Amino acid sequence: MSLSIPTYLECVSCAKQYDLKDIRYNCECGGILDVKRDFSNVNGEELKALWESRWGAKSGIYSSGVWRYKELILDIDEKFVVTRQEGNTRLYDAGKAADYVGVNNFMLKHEGENPTGSFKDRGMTCGVTAAKMYNATSVACASTGNTSASMASYAAVCGMKPVIFIPEGKIAYGKLAQALAFGGVTLQIAGNFDDAMELVQDVCNELNIYLVNSINPFRIEGQKAIGFEILQQLEWNVPDWIVIPGGNLGNNSALTKGLQELHELGIINKIPRVAVIQAEGSAPLSKMWKNKTPFEAVKDPDTIATAIKIGNPVSWEKSLRGLEWCNGVVEDVTEQEIMDAKAWVDASGIGAEPASCCSVAGTKKLVDAGVIKPEESVVGILTGNVLKDPDAVIGYHKDELGHMNIKGTYSNKPQLIEATLEAVKKALSK
Ligand code: F0G
Repeated sequence: MSLSIPTYLECVSCAKQYDLKDIRYNCECGGILDVKRDFSNVNGEELKALWESRWGAKSGIYSSGVWRYKELILDIDEKFVVTRQEGNTRLYDAGKAADYVGVNNFMLKHEGENPTGSFKDRGMTCGVTAAKMYNATSVACASTGNTSASMASYAAVCGMKPVIFIPEGKIAYGKLAQALAFGGVTLQIAGNFDDAMELVQDVCNELNIYLVNSINPFRIEGQKAIGFEILQQLEWNVPDWIVIPGGNLGNNSALTKGLQELHELGIINKIPRVAVIQAEGSAPLSKMWKNKTPFEAVKDPDTIATAIKIGNPVSWEKSLRGLEWCNGVVEDVTEQEIMDAKAWVDASGIGAEPASCCSVAGTKKLVDAGVIKPEESVVGILTGNVLKDPDAVIGYHKDELGHMNIKGTYSNKPQLIEATLEAVKKALSK
């Protein structure tokens, strides 16, 4: 291990510190852990120049949009790095979706363009690299789908055994297909994601399997690269807002942690406000935030955005800490709002899975409420690919989601016609 910036683990609750040489996900007090660095000898300008010099690298680990920022990800010997050149995702002008939300300067960072179709690849390259550093031969996760697809892929790349715990019958088909295709040992449990999350922690402790859920502090380090890359794409000009969906709450914790580090190093001088958007039926952080009450898990979380159907998110403390630092906000959106926003993201030609579209639905809601001003610059993060959940798309456009109280407000129904020129003319004239 060659770490040029002194790096260690620190408990989020009691600040106890641990060396990196031991495998740890929790503190002795039960709190979750952060990767911390001593920046006293780090020059932010030099670091930024180094990252700029790596932009556009054609091969090697710096062609990855995560390992480009290696010094603040995991400064480890290259031989351990397991990468699929993840990251390097596009930052789109939101097009029609900008009109829908009512913001002129609205961009969408499409993390669904990662190798396995979600932002999870950024954390997974780092999590599986850590697994290799610790000589693990098997990795495990609980998942609503995307983490498992990503883990199975990265494990296959480096010859580790992936063990997956998913809630029975509640996972989008595109994601289940990937887990199976990449060779994951896939265990569907009778229970929801929160049950699976509890079980996988016991399993990993008992069976010596390396846990790569976002409770793993190295996963969070990799995911910080979403924010780094947005800023690099914007020539280090900081937007007013970054809007992101929240489920297990690892991703927004990573975003604010990374931004805080850039700020501490003087690489950015302005702090963007971060808005975390949850689905109304799975919104423990939003409830806590709005009611100013202690954290309380949601017992039976529910939403069509199955990726974030989570009632007891493991990273809520980290999430809150980051939001307080950046003067952030938390909001929740209805099923209808999610699917209508998705219709606009999709019709813009960009496309994303339902959970991703919380960013857009949430931005609209915050603009309508006057929290985000129309003249402010906003980056919405799209977390997963449109192909992950075809059932939700078809259900909406055929207007067949009535049982979930979702109307196909902006539906684009397929039309059944006779195979004649006349019938085609009639269909096109509508
Ligand atoms: N969007 C998508 C597409 C996701 O898959 C997830 C989480 C999130 C948003 C929320 O991110 O959990 O860091 O707050 N999916 C996890 C999984 C839970 O198992 O794939 P978060």
